[in-house]
Amino acid sequence: MALGKLSVLISVEQIRERINHIGARIDADYPNHAETVHLIAILKGAYVFMADLSRAIKRPVTVDFMGISSYGKGKTSSGEVRVTKDLDTVIEGNHVIIVEDIVDSGVTLTYLLNLLDQRKPKSIKIAALLDKPERRLRPINAAYVGFSIPDEFVVGYGLDYAEKYRNLPDICVLSEEDE
Ligand code: IMP
Ligand code: MG
Repeated sequence: MALGKLSVLISVEQIRERINHIGARIDADYPNHAETVHLIAILKGAYVFMADLSRAIKRPVTVDFMGISSYGKGKTSSGEVRVTKDLDTVIEGNHVIIVEDIVDSGVTLTYLLNLLDQRKPKSIKIAALLDKPERRLRPINAAYVGFSIPDEFVVGYGLDYAEKYRNLPDICVLSEEDE
């Protein structure tokens, strides 16, 4: 694909409203309100969502980042998952929420859940901004989902195509330019 055509699928206002709602649910869902929730964002796509979600939560939070590579530079998964940056902190005994940009095949999150579960967190949940249920190869149960979307390739709000478009404020569909 040489040049892409962008059209807004979810606006920055819709994203903000939905994230505020998810933040309020996370505040309500853990019974002890003094207890810290540990947010783990998956780099790079979730960096924008992490910044907004963490500020929509009123209870104490700590943050960490994990680098996972499964897509290479294209639009389809290579099927291979690789840790490119591990956590800085120990998660044993913590309430963990994995913060992910999008659940597509579910391969990345299945791998990650297995990996992090071995480190004995007190609880582990998933918050995904986007979900493409039609593409699922592995079952994934995300406690918090921003938006379910059709099987289209999206960019913006942290999501990329070949490292481009992460800085777009809205979530946009990237389609091939008509000849
Ligand atoms: P999965 O392992 O197939 O679920 O892949 C999830 C990862 O693929 C996400 O964290 C994204 O980085 C990437 N991905 C999947 N769909 C899209 C998309 O439509 N746009 C940009 N990245 C995507
Ligand atoms: Mg990506």
